[in-house]
Amino acid sequence: MSHMRFRRVATVTSLLLASTVVASGCGGSSGGGGPKIAFLLPENQTPRYESADRPYFEEDVEKRCEDCEILYNNATEDPSKQQSQAEAALTQGAEVLVLDPVDAASAAAIVEKAKAQDVPVVSYDRLIENADVDYYVSFDNERVGQLQAESLSKKLKENGSTSGPIVMISGDPADSNAALFKKGAQKGFESAGVDVAKEYDTPEWSATNAQNEMQQAITALGKSGFNGVYAANDDTGGGAIAAMKSAGINPEEKPTTGQDATVAGLQRIVAGQQYMTVYKAIKPEAEASSEIAVALAEGKPVKAKITDKVDNGKTQVPSVLFEPVAVTKENINQTVIKDEFVSADELCTGPYAKPCEEAGIS
Ligand code: BGC
Repeated sequence: MSHMRFRRVATVTSLLLASTVVASGCGGSSGGGGPKIAFLLPENQTPRYESADRPYFEEDVEKRCEDCEILYNNATEDPSKQQSQAEAALTQGAEVLVLDPVDAASAAAIVEKAKAQDVPVVSYDRLIENADVDYYVSFDNERVGQLQAESLSKKLKENGSTSGPIVMISGDPADSNAALFKKGAQKGFESAGVDVAKEYDTPEWSATNAQNEMQQAITALGKSGFNGVYAANDDTGGGAIAAMKSAGINPEEKPTTGQDATVAGLQRIVAGQQYMTVYKAIKPEAEASSEIAVALAEGKPVKAKITDKVDNGKTQVPSVLFEPVAVTKENINQTVIKDEFVSADELCTGPYAKPCEEAGIS
């Protein structure tokens, strides 16, 4: 997440798009003259979108197609905003939509509009359900949940609390990925014999909602009524850890999971407050999507290596799925640092310098 951005911001020509861009405060278009590619991301609270997905995608499109123009927008968790952003991109003449849906179900309406204009749609990271999607690029998302559960179950066993119980803080129910993470995790806990004392879904994936959920769990179960926390990503994990701290619980004693290998999540891992995260290499995900999008926009054959077919309720979507990796303090060096996803400099600032050194992170 430490690399340079190089975006040429072109003048927005359509009044319609201009108003959307101004209204959302976070849109933009880059490149120019050639085919237009819309890249529509769902939110900007989780750091990955603005600091990894977007720059990796833009850099790769630029490499493959110098005159392609990217119509970028972030829906900030609002499905109707995403709908207007997609419509604006179509009006603007987008040749392809690369869409990471806020709401897996309602995004089908966007796909219908696009298809009515012969514009192909690539479902990015989250699967759009019951729609005529052309391609899907993501990770093995059930495996993400499985890795979280396996890793937490192992730690609970080491701590002498094999059966938990744990609190489960899952993601946004409107996100198709959240259901897959939960499914994988539930299977993992079941086979390890870990009990779930309380379970929550977290609207909008927000850290504040997760903090409130954890607060409720602590009130209901008491400080010693649980031995670990399944949090679906680093933001919700951060919220859960904040709730434990304000209830006077030492988070080191309650191993907590996460996902995304955010700087904040990794720093908590280094400091011993969060147990693990799941690293998903965003670069290959963004690049496979860019490869597909550029080919579609230029009307050329898609050469990306299709690894799977995923059923979205309507069609078997040709998919490119990557493998997630479990990260604890022990393998930060060999994973996220080695991949230059995060640098040791970014991670090991201020109070984290010493624990980083102790953990041999450099
Ligand atoms: C993504 C995660 C992310 C979450 C919240 C999921 O669909 O796969 O990486 O943490 O959404 O934005």
